[in-house]
Amino acid sequence: MTAVAEPARMTREPVATRRRYLMCPPRYFTVRYVINPWMNPRLPVDTELAMAQWSRLRDIYRELGHTVEEIEPQPGLPDMVFAANAATVIGGTVLGSRFRNAERAPEAEHYRRWFLANGYSEVVMPTEINEAEGDLVWTGRVLLAGTGFRTDPRAHDEAQEVFGVPVVSLQLVDPHFYHLDTALFVLSEEGGRSPDEAAGSGAVIAYFPEAFSPGSRRVLERMFPDAIRATRADAEAFGLNALSDGRRVILPEQAEHLIAAVAERGYEPIGVDVSELRKAGGGPKCCTLELRDG
Ligand code: ARG
Repeated sequence: MTAVAEPARMTREPVATRRRYLMCPPRYFTVRYVINPWMNPRLPVDTELAMAQWSRLRDIYRELGHTVEEIEPQPGLPDMVFAANAATVIGGTVLGSRFRNAERAPEAEHYRRWFLANGYSEVVMPTEINEAEGDLVWTGRVLLAGTGFRTDPRAHDEAQEVFGVPVVSLQLVDPHFYHLDTALFVLSEEGGRSPDEAAGSGAVIAYFPEAFSPGSRRVLERMFPDAIRATRADAEAFGLNALSDGRRVILPEQAEHLIAAVAERGYEPIGVDVSELRKAGGGPKCCTLELRDG
């Protein structure tokens, strides 16, 4: 009998790559309007503590070898700290944002000017409601695009035209997870995968299934059969509002189950405390806009 060797199933060693981020200090951060279920203007907000927590997050990125650019915050725009909602940058092309809520609408122009002043020549402003990386998550080959609460599905088509990458629309159904980046994140982008991992998109993700419609859940199962499934407690701790550089994963320290699951896959979890920013319905990823220049 001749034994036919099965191709060895290679498990990929997580590899970090250097990143460049744009962040906005929460100098004018507070909660004085309600545009998601986490916001309660009657609860006191400690802006100084928010600044300290945010600075710690920024310093961790720098200690890991990443570059962090800063944009000047504006008085009267308390949510401007959530830079992820301000633009999506892929291959140096910038697709700006158009906010659903009037309270945040003016932020888009401040960020647009930052990109123009910082050497970006291709800056497209969307015509449809588009809350940028809040709802648009890059996997390395496919752009996952959330809708249901903020970003209009027509903005998904617009993103596909602007970037020339395939866009997969996903339906969000739980108002607590109103942006895609509160329900899903990418641990490893596609690239460097072994030839044996031909199926699926090749990216490694984590997500909270119940945040998605049944059809969207099936899409995620087909595309990412090996994904980490987060628990409701993880999601409520904003554990999925995480950021990975391919190896090190920054996420709220309260997301205990997810931290263990991430470590079990060979990634290095780094817990942070952004409790003040959570009062506005945001976490580490919301504060971080990735500048994918190359
Ligand atoms: N208060 C902000 C809003 O509701 C929080 C934004 C959080 N950002 C994010 N990328 N999920 O718009």
